[in-house]
Amino acid sequence: MPLYLDPDVLHSFRDLNQGPGAILDLIGAMAFRTAGTAQRLGLFEVLGAGPQSAAGVAAKLGLPGEPLTVLLDALVGFGYLRKSGDLYTAGPPVSPWLDRAAGGGFAPALAVWHDLLGELWQGLEDAVRTGRPPEPFYPWLERSPDRVRDFQTMLAGLAWMLAPAVVEAAPKIGGSLLDIGGGHAIYSIAFCRAAPDLTATVIDLPGALTQGRAHVEEAGLAERIHLVPGDLADPIDGSHDAVLLFNVVHGLDPEAGADLVARTARALKPGGVLLVLEPFADPPDGAGAHDVALLGGFSLNLAATQGGRLYTYDEVAGWASAAGLNGIERLPLSAPGTDELLVARREAQ
Ligand SMILES: C[S@@+](CC[C@H](N)C(=O)[O-])C[C@H]1O[C@@H](n2cnc3c(N)ncnc32)[C@H](O)[C@@H]1O
Repeated sequence: MPLYLDPDVLHSFRDLNQGPGAILDLIGAMAFRTAGTAQRLGLFEVLGAGPQSAAGVAAKLGLPGEPLTVLLDALVGFGYLRKSGDLYTAGPPVSPWLDRAAGGGFAPALAVWHDLLGELWQGLEDAVRTGRPPEPFYPWLERSPDRVRDFQTMLAGLAWMLAPAVVEAAPKIGGSLLDIGGGHAIYSIAFCRAAPDLTATVIDLPGALTQGRAHVEEAGLAERIHLVPGDLADPIDGSHDAVLLFNVVHGLDPEAGADLVARTARALKPGGVLLVLEPFADPPDGAGAHDVALLGGFSLNLAATQGGRLYTYDEVAGWASAAGLNGIERLPLSAPGTDELLVARREAQ
């Protein structure tokens, strides 16, 4: 939350007999939903172009003056905007992070999480009571092309950052690569750039592949990377030198995760490798309190909306071992964040 709170504030909450932790979370939740609403209205792009009065913002967005002014003032209170006289200015949390016209590195994530928390998390209690998500995430996502675009853009941003470290940490791969749930195709692009003899097949849902196609064409790799619409539950065709399961098993329940790993193992040539990229439920040494909190919330999101969760390294390694793979290793990445690689090998004959 951009708002800076003096430690004395915590004492004042306590003196009012209000739980300081929960009230800070309440402010944070209101701030996040307000920022998400402002983004949907296009307010950050208007203020990114320069300071504006409330009337100026209202005219640009074609909105009534009220309650827009209340929203603007709330954003000032939350630290997203600044106000000087009558003029509102985008504060550091907005410019450049949330202004799409200025690159907006966090803009797709804000859009996805705003919708996710506002809609699918309504079902959190039901999911916990019944043991399954009331509305599954991916069909919900694929129903809206804008949402799929933001989701894949969010993942692609992370993938562009992690891909060099992933390729560096992974064993050398040549021949045929299968990227299951590879969507935006960035990891296939990175492996193909590193190995001129490599061809890749990316399997994903149709909406997700729209962005994959654009990236592959931009990279000039349309001859070597094939995008195939398909479902994770489909039989896996062919025989491959490497298969990527990157951020896929956490969307599945343990039985489906183990089954996917087993089917993947059968799709490997002798000597082939399975690469799993995940933030594991047991994060690497050095993970901070914010990492642990974010991973816990992310895992709960997976459980409530996909029927999955974050798995420990040992759980995924156990699935690979049960699938007959060996030489299983946990490889840290020389990149920020909590993602790690699990490598498992099919014995060469
Ligand atoms: C969390 S994303 C990971 C994307 C990419 N591998 C990465 O690491 O950035 C999971 C991917 O699995 C795909 N996916 C989810 N359910 C699927 C299904 N039933 N069939 C095919 N793909 C699916 C999603 O569309 C999405 O691209």
